[in-house]
Amino acid sequence: MNQDLISAQIRTKWAGKELQYFDIVDSTNNIADEAGLKGAASGFLAVADRQDSGRGRRGRTWISPAGYNIFMSIMVRPGIPMDKVSGLTLVMALAVAKAIDKELGTVSCGIKWPNDVVLNKRKIVGILTELHTMPGAEDYYVVIGTGINVNQPADLFDEKIRDIAGSVFSETGRELDRSKLLGECMEIFEGLYEKYIQSGDMSLIKKEYESILLNKDAGVRILDPKGEYEAVSRGIADDGSLLIELPDGTTKTINAGEVSVRGLYGYT
Ligand code: BTN
Repeated sequence: MNQDLISAQIRTKWAGKELQYFDIVDSTNNIADEAGLKGAASGFLAVADRQDSGRGRRGRTWISPAGYNIFMSIMVRPGIPMDKVSGLTLVMALAVAKAIDKELGTVSCGIKWPNDVVLNKRKIVGILTELHTMPGAEDYYVVIGTGINVNQPADLFDEKIRDIAGSVFSETGRELDRSKLLGECMEIFEGLYEKYIQSGDMSLIKKEYESILLNKDAGVRILDPKGEYEAVSRGIADDGSLLIELPDGTTKTINAGEVSVRGLYGYT
């Protein structure tokens, strides 16, 4: 993977058109943030072969070894109300899941709400979306950082996470061309993003998202800081929140910023 190989795979109107590739970087989210601050056009993409300070959600680190995976961050200027921005994480999850399936030629990837892409019950993609307001202006931009475990062998995952984390290769035995997969991700993301912006919510792509949502009509454990409980998830609402049915038959929606969800028998 290098700048030329990736550029050759970008067929979009704006997503990833401006591209910066690094053999090593602290975090591609930082590069995309700097580009946003300096006024880069929406769609700027930072890609790295390795990160030495990769960040995950909830303050966790994202292990980012060289030679196997994709670490990328796209900077966008959505111009929608800020409270709609979190849905872009679901858009990216759907785009990456579809891109991997396209490269594999199968329907294999699922999504664990809201945005983990899962293969064989193992998480292979993580997404960290960060919103940045411009100093002194009402304007803002968003960095969507995505780590895709592509060709990493299973034994290179830390023993502690080997049960729940994997790569396309560890789960299917198939090695994928990272530049090609990246180009596919950008193309699919661009189309889904435009639909999201058009309606300002998931309504135009909800069916597609739900078609690979693992938490659909399935038992879930809701890890609410106020107390854990079980429910049946029924899909998503237009704003991307999870629709759940409680044991008494009532339904409600839950928000990704407030709670986590697990399957009844494990991570998914
Ligand atoms: C998660 O915890 O699931 C989110 C992981 C996000 C990792 C990606 S890798 C590219 C980008 N740069 C970072 O430092 N983090 C994101």
